[in-house]
Amino acid sequence: MPDLLIGQTLTFAADPFVEGPAAARHDSRGGVVIDAGRIIATGPADRLRAAHPGARVHDYGQALISAGFVDAHVHYPQTGIIASWGKRLIDWLNTYTFPEESRFGDPAHAQAIAGMCLDLMLAQGTTTLCSFCTIHPESVDALFTAARDRGMRVLAGKTCMDRNAPDTLRDTAQAAYDQSRALLQRWHGVDRLSYVITPRFAPTSTPEQLAALGALWSEHPEVPMQTHLSEQPEEIAWVARLFPQARDYLEVYEHFGLLGERGLYGHAIHLTDRERARLREVGAALIHCPTSNAFIGSGLFDMAGLKAEGQRIGLATDIGGGSNLSMFRTMAAAYEIAQLRGAALHPSQLWWLATQGSARALGLGDRIGALAPGMEADLVVIDLASTPVIAQRSSRATDLWEALFPTIMMGDDRAVVATWVNGRAV
Ligand code: GUN
Ligand code: ZN
Repeated sequence: MPDLLIGQTLTFAADPFVEGPAAARHDSRGGVVIDAGRIIATGPADRLRAAHPGARVHDYGQALISAGFVDAHVHYPQTGIIASWGKRLIDWLNTYTFPEESRFGDPAHAQAIAGMCLDLMLAQGTTTLCSFCTIHPESVDALFTAARDRGMRVLAGKTCMDRNAPDTLRDTAQAAYDQSRALLQRWHGVDRLSYVITPRFAPTSTPEQLAALGALWSEHPEVPMQTHLSEQPEEIAWVARLFPQARDYLEVYEHFGLLGERGLYGHAIHLTDRERARLREVGAALIHCPTSNAFIGSGLFDMAGLKAEGQRIGLATDIGGGSNLSMFRTMAAAYEIAQLRGAALHPSQLWWLATQGSARALGLGDRIGALAPGMEADLVVIDLASTPVIAQRSSRATDLWEALFPTIMMGDDRAVVATWVNGRAV
């Protein structure tokens, strides 16, 4: 039996960075009909009720129905060390991250954290995430198994490292290739799961390992590749010392076959003009992680400039470098960081980044990130008056954007009335 969700509906017919807020499609009494995991119709609620008399009706009143949030860069194994105090990137990795990631060879630990992370994400309205795992194949199995149990569309890969990491977290070039390949063959395309080839970042892979993973990507161009790029100045200087023959950080990846349209480059803050031009030319995706960039002290991503030059950009929490699982807090931080660079992102741009922008960055814009017939039924229902301070502000609103912005800036899981995954309320 189909389900008919009624409320305010919001989706995008185009990119609001290009078309402005008119790219949005808002219906103050709209509906979404879903059946067998897909959206089969959208439009005015009354018309849908008449056209689908047998549908089970879920009337959410004034709440806002949107595509579920898409978190384009997460480290699920770092859920337990979120909000760890006082370090910049390299010290933070060595002090907090690597000891925690070392525990993921234990399948019981990996399963416990994977299930907890996905449940916390769903409570925040995040229906898809793209995650780094650890070097342990068990950590990938744990996340994909938990995602499959929940019907979620999840992308993930084994994080490969063969130097500059503790013994407990190093593989080899050959093991990285063999294990990544085996995991890709086991999981890619199963249910709603996608494998992602995952070299952590240039400093923790030898040239041999980067070359092996570049070779794997050339054998499997259908899968994405994720890594980190130009997050902190100290990291960039380290890459320059490790790869003196490369003109810049991006050229290291390109040299080893790790630059492409399906490439996902986390952070991408301190880019040279050459790197920007090359990323644009290739059509690669840059993943903005604003709470992380503030929390670890990395720098101010140039959202306005990069979008104006036509870069593909997604939005992400970067848990546990990121300090919050909520895509509301992540949009708010993106707003704040853009303000510090002199640009005020419009609520339509923020909402687009958290849904369709991230979906497109992941190469999934034809399946998730929008309310439209044929799309997969991953939705979030948002209360725009979820706390007294938000309610008093949104009650003064004269249009949708003014009603939405207080929730973007101050909302959290209390604003999430319902999360639908694969056509089911969870
Ligand atoms: N660079 C390499 N690894 C990581 C990581 O786990 N988190 C962040 N924020 N940056 C990284
Ligand atoms: Zn990261």
